[in-house]
Amino acid sequence: MNVYDSDRMADVLAPLGYTSVDGPEDADMVILNTCHIREKAAEKVYSELGRLRQLKQARSETEPDRRGPMLAVAGCVAQAEGAEMLARAPFVDIVFGPQTYHRLPEMIAKAERTAERAAKPGGRNGSRGAGILDTEFPEEAKFDHLPNAQPKRHGASCTAFLTIQEGCDKFCTFCVVPYTRGVEFSRPGRAVLAECHQLVDGGVREVTLLGQNVNAYHGAAPGSGNWDLAELIAQLAVIEGLERIRYTTSHPRDMTDRLFDIHGTCAKLMPYLHLPVQSGSDRILAAMNRGYTAADYHAAVARLRQVRPDIALSGDFIVGFPGESEADFEATMELVDEVNYAQAYSFKYSPRPGTPAALLENQVPDDVGAARLQRLQELLNQQQQAFNQRMVGRRLPLLLDRAGRRPGQLVGRSPYMQAVHVDGGLNLLGRIVEVEITAAHANSLAGTLSPPQAAAPRRPMEPRMGRVS
Ligand code: 5AD
Ligand code: SF4
Repeated sequence: MNVYDSDRMADVLAPLGYTSVDGPEDADMVILNTCHIREKAAEKVYSELGRLRQLKQARSETEPDRRGPMLAVAGCVAQAEGAEMLARAPFVDIVFGPQTYHRLPEMIAKAERTAERAAKPGGRNGSRGAGILDTEFPEEAKFDHLPNAQPKRHGASCTAFLTIQEGCDKFCTFCVVPYTRGVEFSRPGRAVLAECHQLVDGGVREVTLLGQNVNAYHGAAPGSGNWDLAELIAQLAVIEGLERIRYTTSHPRDMTDRLFDIHGTCAKLMPYLHLPVQSGSDRILAAMNRGYTAADYHAAVARLRQVRPDIALSGDFIVGFPGESEADFEATMELVDEVNYAQAYSFKYSPRPGTPAALLENQVPDDVGAARLQRLQELLNQQQQAFNQRMVGRRLPLLLDRAGRRPGQLVGRSPYMQAVHVDGGLNLLGRIVEVEITAAHANSLAGTLSPPQAAAPRRPMEPRMGRVS
């Protein structure tokens, strides 16, 4: 979601004449878009700010006529630590949260005025002065004030993120999201459709519907009532030219009957689902306030596999949650063993300020958490490698979405989210082609373009193939 937000910030700034550059050295403004989900991510912000401060100083020495880059911090660390951040890093010009970036032009204008005052005789030269802070949860909806998405501006042209929902009301006891992103908000169906049409008109073939908990989606339907996620997917699936739909991230508790069913009926909905479980222990799941048991999760997985037998699953895991015993951790290992994931993200529990779990007394020692994480990751890596290995010899439809590192090499995504390297001309970018998988590596596959498969039987669930010339 931070990638999406950063792109939208670039859209907001384009009318002011800003374009993206590759590094901070050339920039007139640097925006750090930050993540507060775990301590490690939050800490990086301050070390990065230290480097940017040096850059600013160096530029004022080498180019005294040019003002140093304006520095802005966006995102959830900014939201959570706003005033404190300005006090700790007074050289920062603007601090704003995830819900106010549509106001960037006003913030920049204010920061410019402050800087001009500071540069005048008697002003505080070299410093931009008091930083601008905007970490409100505004009345107006951010999305109503953003310009239309511009797919081409961001390099990638045939795949795009599309935010449909933001914030969360689930209040898992370990998680900062409900505090930093705010309460759950679903964008109206009409707005999502319009943005999707715009993306497809700009060449996008695959959209990933984004939100902290997209399967809680309940956007206003055109006319009256609401659309749930299944209805939204059905509405998007009829858009001609849109070939693939994905959604992330989802909560097992919000998997509805209609959503399960659409995985079996909508050919454009890709057979890959990120369904975070966090733990396999019912005791820990209850302490996390997740609202389901391991058996409920298994039932959801079974149902998905019933409607879409080839569905690949990915998950999120937290080890070392306060009070997690060896037996609790073993329950997580058992769950992983049974589910068999294609991909996964696993983390050591990180106490976050302001969350209920951070106040629990029975915190798990760091070394115990680290050892458990290592064991879990070994198992998850084995499963991922085995999953990739099973693809060798198979033909998969690939959406070729970027050039590879080597000249003549392209990279595409399989339906199961695997990156696949093939040799082919740039004219194939943006096409869906059939590829034979020849090798599997830890994080990617290699394949060769198959000749056109006019007579080959096509499985009913596969999306329409682009023709390869
Ligand atoms: N500590 C460790 N991992 C966390 N996550 C969220 N909050 C924490 C935390 N306090 C993980 C969860 C979530 C993913 C986005 O980040 O697994 O699903
Ligand atoms: Fe955080 Fe996800 Fe739980 Fe919401 S559902 S509180 S975003 S972990």
